[in-house]
Amino acid sequence: MDSKIDIQTIADRIKNGQVTRIVVLTGAGISTSAGVPDFRTPNTGLYDKLAPLKLPYPEAIFHISYFSHTPEPFYAIARCRHPGNLKPTISHAFLALLAKKNLLHFLFTQNIDGLEEDAGVPADKVLWAHGNWKSQHCWKCKAEYPDDLMKTAIQTGEVPYCLRPECDGAIKPDVVFFGQSLPAEFDVKQSHVPEADLMLVMGTSLKVAPCSQLPRLAKEGIPRVLINMERTGDFGNREEDLCILGSCDDDVRQLADLLGWRDELEGLWKDTVETKRDTLDFDDGPTLDECIDKLVKEMDEKLQISAGHKRMLENHLGDKFARIMGGK
Ligand code: OAD
Repeated sequence: MDSKIDIQTIADRIKNGQVTRIVVLTGAGISTSAGVPDFRTPNTGLYDKLAPLKLPYPEAIFHISYFSHTPEPFYAIARCRHPGNLKPTISHAFLALLAKKNLLHFLFTQNIDGLEEDAGVPADKVLWAHGNWKSQHCWKCKAEYPDDLMKTAIQTGEVPYCLRPECDGAIKPDVVFFGQSLPAEFDVKQSHVPEADLMLVMGTSLKVAPCSQLPRLAKEGIPRVLINMERTGDFGNREEDLCILGSCDDDVRQLADLLGWRDELEGLWKDTVETKRDTLDFDDGPTLDECIDKLVKEMDEKLQISAGHKRMLENHLGDKFARIMGGK
């Protein structure tokens, strides 16, 4: 369907006060320029990069039942996706600017990197729908686990285990895995979507429910704007849909130009990046590809050891069997 609106119309409606309640939904695409690959972009996305690990299926790395017996892949890559390693992008700064101008009604993010808060979006305006890294528990007995030990685990890539002697569960950050429920507030907060007079969706393939359903809750007749590399979800089905296809960072700069906010946006971004640089937890570490290679090598070694062990047992049992048979 041809759109009734363009980016200039959106900017005009914001400038003349017709738009005052913007609800935003974000995904991994707003953090790719911070150095975190998204999940599903072919070749560069995390799920394609995990192929050498031969997981049963790519999302298994974030599935609670897989994690419960094989947490190693998750910890092998954790450091590369941890907020302690990342700085906000200009797209995050744009969200903070919307909040500063009292235009951000509510933000739903599927990202667990916490960069929205680092950029200055007030915490009461955000729902981290897929959780965050601020706390962690044993996946099995739910016991808490200390932050400093968790930090070491992320830094080294070693799986941390429950400190209770009678429990052998791996520790899991309080991020939402497949097979787990979203935070209870999700149901309450989604009532903000029909209150919006503009819905903005950025950097998400809209493949994972229930967040993927949020744009459908926007009132008919209000503009829904998608800023993404590709068209996703049901965008294009409504006359008031606008798809701005391209990089989030370029597109928010263009919108900021039309709004006359460009200098303010760049200044805000620069300040937040500098503030975050001073508080980064980890020095530059291995890249994601290096982390994956390391785990593949470790798994190969373990396979060789267990193949060797199997051969040794077979020989040993074979000898015993021969002796028993010989003794008969
Ligand atoms: P996806 O990887 O599924 O989608 C990212 C989207 O962003 C794709 O449509 C890309 O084309 C687009 N994109 C990438 N870089 C971009 C850029 N610089 N500018 C504009 N667009 C860009 O990531 P999500 O939709 O966030 O859940 O994935 C949703 C959930 O699936 C995640 O929260 C995670 C994952 O499995 C769990 O692990 C529970």
